[in-house]
Order: sequence, then structure tokens, then C-alpha cells
Amino acid sequence: MRHVEISGKRLRLREVTLDDVDALHAVYGDPTATEHLPFDPRTREEVEEGVVEAIKAAEAEPRRLYVLAVTDVDGGEAFGVARLHIEADHPHSAEIGLGLRPDHWGRGIGTDLIRLILTFGFRHLRLHRIWGARSPANTAAQLAMLVAGMVEEGRIRHHVRARGAWRDSIVHSALEDEWEGHRDV
Ligand SMILES: CC(C)(COP(=O)(O)OP(=O)(O)OC[C@H]1O[C@@H](n2cnc3c(N)ncnc32)[C@H](O)[C@@H]1OP(=O)(O)O)[C@@H](O)C(=O)NCCC(=O)NCCS
Repeated sequence: MRHVEISGKRLRLREVTLDDVDALHAVYGDPTATEHLPFDPRTREEVEEGVVEAIKAAEAEPRRLYVLAVTDVDGGEAFGVARLHIEADHPHSAEIGLGLRPDHWGRGIGTDLIRLILTFGFRHLRLHRIWGARSPANTAAQLAMLVAGMVEEGRIRHHVRARGAWRDSIVHSALEDEWEGHRDV
């Protein structure tokens, strides 16, 4: 799918552009927002490289990577980012990731964003399975994924190397046939 734009009740997802670099840097470059992510805060240059790669990946055939800017439903400056990566060997399945600028936390936006990503993946991309991995300590991500209907399915031991130590991940997933009851965005 090309030129993605999908809206829920209060959020919109659209393709990232180079104009979003500062907005994405406010997430990926922020020590609080990256506390539970498996990488150190990124420089503006690193974020820009990521956006360039995402724009290139958007042209691939078949397309496997969607990096989408999160805005209010009316548009405006991005305050978050959502990623959906379709597995090459299992194209019915995709991994998601998300991040919001910290001044937008705690108002249910993360939960709404996950619902909107699930709607995009199941309804528009016709995926069967969507999963996400979080740090065991990431309570906000845990609650947002659970409330949006992504069940906890297990622990991957020493899944990532973060800040000089091994870290487990907790995997959540949603299946297309279970998702119907959660799709009110
Ligand atoms: C994870 C994230 C997207 C959640 O966004 P958010 O808008 O704050 O989430 P919500 O407001 O929908 O909150 C979800 C639940 O977590 C709770 N919560 C939010 N922040 C919390 C915190 N720091 N500690 C404990 N609970 C928290 C909320 O009360 C809510 O629970 P409720 O539905 O029972 O009220 C956001 O914290 C973020 O961008 N974090 C940095 C990046 C990241 O960790 N991404 C996830 C990787 S898996």
C-alpha cells in the first residue's frame, strides 16, 4: 500500500516525510521516551537517516515497512511515530512499534494509536497477526497494548542488548479474528 493516510476519532497516521525529522527527534532523541527502548537517544542526524531509509523502504515491492507520523485528526505537527514491519518469511504477520512525545503521554493517546495501527494492519493490509515486544518494565506500553486488545503471549529471554546488559522482552499480539471487539477507534 502506498501513500497511507488513515484517521481515527482523534488521531491521524500518514507517511513520514523529511519535514518530520525534528518531530521524530523529539521522540527518539528524548531520554525519557527512549528509557525502555533498546537504543540510546538518537541524534538528529540518526533520526534523519532513519526517515530517509523509511521513505526508500516505502517504495519497495512488496512493501514491508510502514513508518507513519502521528498527528491530530486535523493534521498539524507530528507528535509521535508508528512503525509496522511485515515479516519477510511470514507476510501474514507484522511487528509494530510506537512512540509519543512525552508531553502527550497519559491521556489515552497511546491506546488509541495502537487501536489505529491494528485497524490499519488488519483492515487495510489484511494481516492476520500483529505483535509488539516491550521491556518488562514498560508499564505504560503494557497497559496500552492490553487495553487495545493485544494479549500478552510470552517472554523472550535476553531478547535485546540494551545499555550494556541483556534484557528480556514481553511479547503482545492481536489476531485478526479476535480483534473485532476492540476496533472502535
Ligand atoms: C507507551 C506509550 C506510547 C503510551 O502512551 P500513552 O499515551 O501515555 O498511553 P495511554 O495514556 O493510552 O496509557 C495507557 C495506560 O498506561 C497507563 N500509564 C501511562 N503512563 C504510565 C506510567 N508511566 N506508569 C504506569 N502506567 C502508565 C495509563 O494510565 C493507561 O492505563 P489505563 O488505561 O488503565 O488508564 C508512551 O508511554 C510512549 O511513547 N513511550 C515511549 C516509547 C515506548 O515505550 N514505546 C512502546 C515500546 S513497546
